[in-house]
Amino acid sequence: MYKLIINGGIALNGHVKTAGSKNSSLPILFASILANNPIILTNTPHLSDVSTTLRLLMDMGAEFILESDNSLFVDGSKLTNLVAQYNLVKTMRASILALGPMLAKYGKAKISLPGGCAIGSRPVNLHLKALEDLGASIKVESGYIYATAKKLIGAEIHFDQISVTATENIIMAATLATGTTTIHNAAQEPEIVDLVNCLIKMGAKISGTGTSMITIEGVDELSGVTYAVCPDRIEAGTYLVAAAITGGKITIKNVHYQSMRAILEKLLETGADIKTKENSITLDMKGKRPKAVNIKTSTYPNFPTDMQAQFTALNAIADGHSTITETIFENRFMHIPELSRMGANLALEGNTVVCKGVKSLTSAHLMATDLRASASLVLAGLATTGTTTIERVYHLDRGYETIEEKLKLLGAQIERVQD
Ligand code: EPZ
Repeated sequence: MYKLIINGGIALNGHVKTAGSKNSSLPILFASILANNPIILTNTPHLSDVSTTLRLLMDMGAEFILESDNSLFVDGSKLTNLVAQYNLVKTMRASILALGPMLAKYGKAKISLPGGCAIGSRPVNLHLKALEDLGASIKVESGYIYATAKKLIGAEIHFDQISVTATENIIMAATLATGTTTIHNAAQEPEIVDLVNCLIKMGAKISGTGTSMITIEGVDELSGVTYAVCPDRIEAGTYLVAAAITGGKITIKNVHYQSMRAILEKLLETGADIKTKENSITLDMKGKRPKAVNIKTSTYPNFPTDMQAQFTALNAIADGHSTITETIFENRFMHIPELSRMGANLALEGNTVVCKGVKSLTSAHLMATDLRASASLVLAGLATTGTTTIERVYHLDRGYETIEEKLKLLGAQIERVQD
């Protein structure tokens, strides 16, 4: 295993390019199952979750080639093994996104139940009920989901709770169903819009994405496509927080600032100066200590849960008191004990963290626990003079492409070393 060693207290400065979105790439890779011929993806990020998805697809009979120009050729059109094995699914919950496409294309799927993870129990009941509404027969036995459907039939789907991947699963399933499906209370995340844009290019008939009501008219088949994955707004947001927490100035390139309004509004509240252009954002903290900001996570277009841990680190050294309330996941506070070991003044009360900013934290030896909690620890280490060590950085590699290389480009003193 690897760990990161950070000599913090340096104001970050420079330019960095955002990679393609993890949370767009994963559903779009699973959408390759729906197509009658290969898809070619560009701007896909080099992340372990993408590798896991490719391994899962390959295990089911798909083929892929990483071309020399970094584009990804994926042929998921002829699966020979309609089983998503536990050993791969347990490492990535998003594997559940194979279910909708497999049912739509082959009428059959056996998928390991994705277990919970550090941030919560992560049930999939919304996925299963909605697929049954489309006519699938589903049973769960010995840790596996067994699903069959002679032919999925379009239906009115009402989600009791907004779910990103459940919305994505049903959209993909409905593309090849007979008749029309309308999803009510659909998630509106930009990654869903990106998936739908790709599906429409493949021949799907979908309207209403980016709203809470999405209509899908089933078609007979979908074709391969060449598609560029949208930039990762959470990676971009994380680097902007890195500039804010260290008092620096950075420009992020290859980013759609329009999908980051809730994040940018909160960064402005910390006292950052922000300038946006067509495809770039510049944040200048001018060496100032950030002001504390109150955070309440919610579904898009409100403040994203995937940025909560990063802003908790920012508030830990900010000027003033703040509250951070997590409304999406029941246990997305694994970064709190580690930040507290650095001297942060954080008190967890139910699903709210009460934070009193301290002028500076003390460097420490830390343990990463989940993807965004790990990012939070890196940010705290960057802001703190002295040497901070973070173990189990494989969590970070799930969602951040070569994080230490990009941070070095911004002037950080950070090394990845073997344990
Ligand atoms: C997606 O997860 C993202 N992952 C998560 O990003 C993100 O945090 C989350 O959406 C919320 O925005 C991908 O897109 C691959 P949900 P997802 O279903 O779809 C409950 C990251 O850091 N729920 O929107 O799994 C669930 O427990 C990751 O990049 C059910 O109860 O999240 C949660 O409380 C982490 N039953 C709430 O809904 C279900 O069947 C929202 O979860 C499904 C979800």
